[in-house]
Amino acid sequence: MVKLSSEIAIEIREVLESLDTKKSTVLSALLAIHDELHYLPKEAIEEVASYKDVSINDVWGVATFYTNFRISVPPTKHQVEVCWGPTCHLMGAGAVLGAVQRELDLSDEGDTADGRVCLKYNTCIGACSQAPVMMVDHKIIGKVTSESAIKLLKELD
Ligand code: FES
Repeated sequence: MVKLSSEIAIEIREVLESLDTKKSTVLSALLAIHDELHYLPKEAIEEVASYKDVSINDVWGVATFYTNFRISVPPTKHQVEVCWGPTCHLMGAGAVLGAVQRELDLSDEGDTADGRVCLKYNTCIGACSQAPVMMVDHKIIGKVTSESAIKLLKELD
């Protein structure tokens, strides 16, 4: 269900009202909204600018500096991350990543054409002893192979 802009603005204001006005920063406000909505709609940029009494450009500058923020586009149903950090790379992440991209019909990270899955690269998930590692909907899965990665993707609803 697509939310109306006014509904999104209300949710954002509720998040901002829950923050400590004195201690919060533009970044912490954006993080709180991202935690709640799983992306930063344009209303978030406007509301945070108003909340922190700074310009929209100031907020936009912070939001676009951090690549982990998903901006403007609502989240996909599933999020898949493949680690290609040094340990995972040595343990075969290249083949896993290639298999995942082929299965999702993607040539880079991003959303699938049907908007169901978002693929992101990760430089270290923090589970190097389990390399190669991927995450599916925030669940870490270690010792993946091309075959097991494809199986995981096929099991997504
Ligand atoms: S390098 Fe992949 S989990 Fe650390």
